[in-house]
Amino acid sequence: MNHKSILIAIISFCLSFQLSAQNKTIDEKVDSVLRLMTLEEKVGQMTQYASFWSTGPKSPEGDKLKDIAEGRVGSLLNIVGTDKARTMQELTQKSRLKIPLILGLDVIHGFKTTFPIPIAEASSWDMNVVEQSARIAATEASAGGVNWTFAPMVDITRDPRWGRVMEGAGEDPYLGARVAAARVKGFIGAGLGSKDAIMCTAKHFAAYGAGIGGREYNSADMSERTLHEIYLPPFKAAVEAGVSTIMNSLHDLNGIPTTGNSYLVRKVLKGDWNFQGFVISDWGSIAELMTHTYVKDSIEAAWVAIHGGTDMDMECRAYRNQLPALVASGKVDIALIDDAVRRILRKKFELGLFGNPYKFCDEGREKQVLSNPQHRIIARDVAKRSIVLLKNTGSILPLKSTKKIALIGPLATSKTDMLGSWSLAKFDDGEVATLYDALLKRVGKEHLVYAKGCGVEDTSRVGFNQAIEAAKAADLVVVSVGEKREMSGEAASRSNLQLPGVQEQLIKALYETGKPVVVLINAGRPLVFNWTADHVPAILYAWWLGSEAGNAMADVLFGDYNPSAKLPITFPRNEGQVPIYYNHHHTGRPPLGDSNSAEYKGGYLDLVYSPKFHFGYGLSYTTFEYSDFIITPLNDDDNLIKVSFTITNTGKVAGEEVAQLYIRDRVSMPVRPVMELKGFTKLMLQPSEKQIVEFILNKEKLSYYDKDMKWALEPGTFEIMVGAASNDIKFKVNFEVPKQ
Ligand code: BGC
Repeated sequence: MNHKSILIAIISFCLSFQLSAQNKTIDEKVDSVLRLMTLEEKVGQMTQYASFWSTGPKSPEGDKLKDIAEGRVGSLLNIVGTDKARTMQELTQKSRLKIPLILGLDVIHGFKTTFPIPIAEASSWDMNVVEQSARIAATEASAGGVNWTFAPMVDITRDPRWGRVMEGAGEDPYLGARVAAARVKGFIGAGLGSKDAIMCTAKHFAAYGAGIGGREYNSADMSERTLHEIYLPPFKAAVEAGVSTIMNSLHDLNGIPTTGNSYLVRKVLKGDWNFQGFVISDWGSIAELMTHTYVKDSIEAAWVAIHGGTDMDMECRAYRNQLPALVASGKVDIALIDDAVRRILRKKFELGLFGNPYKFCDEGREKQVLSNPQHRIIARDVAKRSIVLLKNTGSILPLKSTKKIALIGPLATSKTDMLGSWSLAKFDDGEVATLYDALLKRVGKEHLVYAKGCGVEDTSRVGFNQAIEAAKAADLVVVSVGEKREMSGEAASRSNLQLPGVQEQLIKALYETGKPVVVLINAGRPLVFNWTADHVPAILYAWWLGSEAGNAMADVLFGDYNPSAKLPITFPRNEGQVPIYYNHHHTGRPPLGDSNSAEYKGGYLDLVYSPKFHFGYGLSYTTFEYSDFIITPLNDDDNLIKVSFTITNTGKVAGEEVAQLYIRDRVSMPVRPVMELKGFTKLMLQPSEKQIVEFILNKEKLSYYDKDMKWALEPGTFEIMVGAASNDIKFKVNFEVPKQ
């Protein structure tokens, strides 16, 4: 086409677009735009720049605004606010084809209203709660100029040293998959195109949580079986739930950096799973193919990434600088570029950006949505459902408000730390409810005394005396300890999982006063606090709970809410046990129960092999009884077994129980895990109330990759287990899976 005919085509496209748009399918619309695009414009759509701040090492600034106005940018990340979003979209309207930008941000656990960190929400085992939190995050983000989040992070991890454990749903593929689907549903709400729906991203594809040594960005090395059975299911669930995009990771898997891993992206994701969205690199990960020493220069890096199935380049300009020449020289087929651009444009159409580039730039809506008081109410509800009661000896909790409380510890008055990593603290810091404020509101000044005791990372005990005096003058002591916001999150791996600084010594000193002690731990990962766990009568693991942290903790402390959360990840006794997870194999010489390792057994000489707190564990202020366990074989084509039982609330207060279903193949090739979660349900019961619970095990749930890596159902004996935690099984029964 010469210049004149291109111009005529564009004018007629613009005129006819509005008229005919309604009648065309999205694919036809995408093709009609694609036909008009130059190679540079196509590569522009495959380019994403960081806008106002960095969440990774910055690439050279260049002339971003000029590039946008010339149609050389498809998306920006790190942008907040309708004013900024509008300014950027106005620039796109100066470009030849006026293609709007997708504006992305890491909306990980809330936008303005900060919700609990993802691992905390996963602890609720309540998919409505998880979905609702993502829904509100999307409602706020879409009102604040953003139409794409880089969440949910669906990486399974078995390693609490990894800082990003806070951002996922823990160690289990089944729970992880359920949480992934719930988050995706929450972000997209009624579907892309609705004004409060945003695109979302399952990341980091794949096995990023398996970095050796728990170090961020480190290589992962694993069998095909572990990849498919443990690490991929949450991604598959996200795809099935309609996730819009997938993000590569920054590491290499079995020697192949995932940003250029065509097996993962082209074969599994876009092939086997038929994923129709687009794949974005992680920050700078195309250029990092060079630092991985996988390629020698950025020309090769761009070649490897596009062949590996990466459609958009986040913040490194390898595509922008290299792809046009690679196509011109015939080294990259234009069909690969067209496929990537089609995927990106399709999302822009689905979002409704072509119809209105300013769709997410409504200042009136921004003001109204971001000040909606209902969001705080829901954040408090989600937060209290995310708190795990680890110990409550002598029913010391819930507290009575008539007692005089000594509130001690560095986190009791902290706002920023309560928000946790990956929160937009600049927005919300001032409005965070601290534990101190929440207790003050409840018990009044005359019943509350506060002393800090020490800072989170302090090595000095100078503040101890004041704290001890405060404890002595009170009826009971509430201690608020844990991690600071920067201690978990990206690039925040830690080799030491102990409660930081002298915090555990502070707890000891307070315990020695003889006053009853309740410990609240706020952190982004499972920590080690053995002395506390063995001595202190009451412990709440409260993670980082967001804007309403203090109020939610007070709700649980005083029994306005009866805790119902359970651990989505195993808590080790010390770092030497890591990686430790419940769904391990039996081995040929398993350790003997909880004893230290006997001769020629696979435990430790210096430590029992079991964890400190088990997967699925968490207490309540009430008690539940499991009874009437029945399993019924089903003669259905798909469903094999119905498992039913009754749960009764045998305590004095209403409460929720998370009942868990596990299976084990008794004899199998290959060896299977000692237990695998295959179902759970959460139910609310009034005192003395009982309910029948039913689970159906279908063929899919009992199948696995056989020894030749074919998905199959092996006939033979399976053990079916039902319980309140992986270490609290109430019933076990064998079931014969017949030959199919
Ligand atoms: C992280 C991603 C994140 C991206 C954009 C990277 O450093 O690994 O998870 O989405 O930055 O902020």
